[in-house]
Amino acid sequence: MVGPSGCGKTTLLNLMGALDKPTAGKIFLEGKDITGIPETSLYKIRREKVGFIFQAYHLIPTLNVMQNVLVPALPLKAKNKHYPDRAKELLKMVGLDGKEKRRPGELSGGEQQRVAIARALILDPVLILADEPTGNLDLKTGRKIFALLKELNLTGEKTVITATHDQKIKELCGRVIFLKG
Ligand SMILES: Nc1ncnc2c1ncn2[C@@H]1O[C@H](COP(=O)(O)OP(=O)(O)OP(=O)(O)O)[C@@H](O)[C@H]1O
Ligand SMILES: [Mg+2]
Repeated sequence: MVGPSGCGKTTLLNLMGALDKPTAGKIFLEGKDITGIPETSLYKIRREKVGFIFQAYHLIPTLNVMQNVLVPALPLKAKNKHYPDRAKELLKMVGLDGKEKRRPGELSGGEQQRVAIARALILDPVLILADEPTGNLDLKTGRKIFALLKELNLTGEKTVITATHDQKIKELCGRVIFLKG
């Protein structure tokens, strides 16, 4: 999604990820109307179906890289012991193996964003929502992050929806939606 600042890109991503409720219209996820689902069961959809990647990463500064990636799995941990292995695999995939014990403050912006990507993937969501995931990164690192998202779409068969101001990124996308200001 592209469009001027304030046109509603973040709002739309929040709606699609069930973080916000619409005042009108309906939201369908995997063909199911999720608009009227009460908050008490909505959290499950959010946790299991959607992976969020934010512009400002939103990593937990007191936890190390590995622990940050495992945060979405915390409520499920007792039942699923394979998550630490999966986290390791994902960190390798995003090029961060060997940095599992570092704190977010000891990583570059691009590395922090890659931790956020690994965290978004830990529960194998069908939908990845990325709100200006390269907004804080230099051009080259931004390209790498987008290449990774593209790969997740092509080989990981994930739906990836991203809001961006980066005009060049449009060329990497299967479909571009312009929002009017
Ligand atoms: N919590 C809120 N309460 C009321 N209005 C809000 C709230 N959050 C955003 N808005 C308003 O909704 C509109 C859309 O905001 P949104 O953050 O979705 O824009 P955006 O397209 O993501 O912009 P940017 O490119 O700057 O990130 C703006 O006019 C904004 O002021
Ligand atoms: Mg925004």
